[in-house]
Amino acid sequence: MNEPSELISAFIGKNMFVTPGFAEKVCRENETGTILSALASVQRCATPVLLNEELFKSMFSAALSAGKASACIPCVSIVESYSELPQKREVAHFVRHYRARYESIKNVLMNRPDLQGSVSIKRALERKTMDRLSLIGMVLDKYETKNGNFSLLLEDTTGTIRAVIKSDKKNAFTTAKEITMDEVIGVTGSCNGNVIFVNDLILPDLPIMEFKKCPEDVSVAFISDMHVGSKMFLKDEFAKFITWINGDIGSEEQKSEILKIKYLFIIGDLVDGIGIYPEQDNELEIKDIIQQYDECAKYLTQIRKDITLIICGGNHDALRLSEPQPVLDKRYAQSIYSLPNAIFVSNPATVNIHAGKGFPGFNVLMYHGYSFDYYIANVESIRLNGGYDRSDLVMKHLLQKRHLSPTHSSTLYIPDEKRDPLVISKAPDFFITGHIHKTSVCNYKSTTMISGSCWQSKTAFQEKVGHNPEPARVPIVNLKTRDIRIVKFAA
Ligand SMILES: [Fe+2]
Ligand SMILES: [Fe+2]
Repeated sequence: MNEPSELISAFIGKNMFVTPGFAEKVCRENETGTILSALASVQRCATPVLLNEELFKSMFSAALSAGKASACIPCVSIVESYSELPQKREVAHFVRHYRARYESIKNVLMNRPDLQGSVSIKRALERKTMDRLSLIGMVLDKYETKNGNFSLLLEDTTGTIRAVIKSDKKNAFTTAKEITMDEVIGVTGSCNGNVIFVNDLILPDLPIMEFKKCPEDVSVAFISDMHVGSKMFLKDEFAKFITWINGDIGSEEQKSEILKIKYLFIIGDLVDGIGIYPEQDNELEIKDIIQQYDECAKYLTQIRKDITLIICGGNHDALRLSEPQPVLDKRYAQSIYSLPNAIFVSNPATVNIHAGKGFPGFNVLMYHGYSFDYYIANVESIRLNGGYDRSDLVMKHLLQKRHLSPTHSSTLYIPDEKRDPLVISKAPDFFITGHIHKTSVCNYKSTTMISGSCWQSKTAFQEKVGHNPEPARVPIVNLKTRDIRIVKFAA
């Protein structure tokens, strides 16, 4: 029997790859039968994994002593990551982009019973008078009338119509307060001439879905906004986090909990970047973008290799600002790409983690959060209820609108004529963000919303605008129980 080739085939069956030399070494040093039987109970990886010595040890060391597989293997598949090549954009691209957005969100709204008989705006205008009607439109204009009502101008692909929400329609009026331009919404009401008098405003929102829990006792951690290269980068705290996640500190009981972490999401702003804001130079310890990424990689490479890192960029990374931002640029972040356990996605992106054996996995929507500044400034209920201290309110607002940045100018974006990549087309199990530099965890319906903390102390800019970052905090979620805790690495 050619044991190395048998082992190589078995690994390939699990989407794991080894070099022939390493397979021979494994056969020489271990009981092959034990590895094969341990491997039989391991899930197939969704993406190819290169099995090196370190990863092999972390997966099979317990199995080789106990005769069964140890910790489960990370399993990540990319559901959505933007990879379109840059091209010249013209006005027609914007038109088709907004049309694609309208159609996507209309499809979501058409699932609502009140909107299933929706008519086009052209049809509503032709009928002149209708006691009951519903339609779906994009908000083109909004103002408060002198009588204290709201007036919306709605548009679909057939025309425009004015919708009036009177202040005595309490629910609709409250919803109207939160509406910003370019959202796609549903309305029900009566039509008189070329005006709809609204009974109800219907947001696309999240559907009722299962609050999933996975069969395996495995955990996931979330970080963002390290800002490596800044003089304010919290080196000691970040080093302490790495020691902790490697299971090198704490009691045996604590270590066994920590070692359950198999996924680490990094949601943008890995480095502080260059020329991001005026006079940033004075606040940089490392003034070369490649060296900033090199320094960042020095930290990330210390993380145990049985943890999969899932990384997207943010507005401080060396990328175009327009969203979707592509994956980190290899020209600058080559050292990050040399990490064997890292997966790179665009901002935003959706990945699925820990699927297998009849379990569908968790869909995780990653978005750095550049549009949050706009919604904190422009939505009254967010601004008056904590603003920058309440990223959970922004996240809920955007989930309800099923779009990461509905209003034109709330972020920079690339118009895509086939689809609007910022539409939240699938309700996620996790919606994770960064950018605000203050962690928050909260469930909205069946979605867990998590905002990463940061690893940078308060900047002069934050001081000036009154932001209160809370650095060095790491939310951890156990996927079997969905219990969440936040571990602090700063005093
Ligand atoms: Fe940041
Ligand atoms: Fe940011």
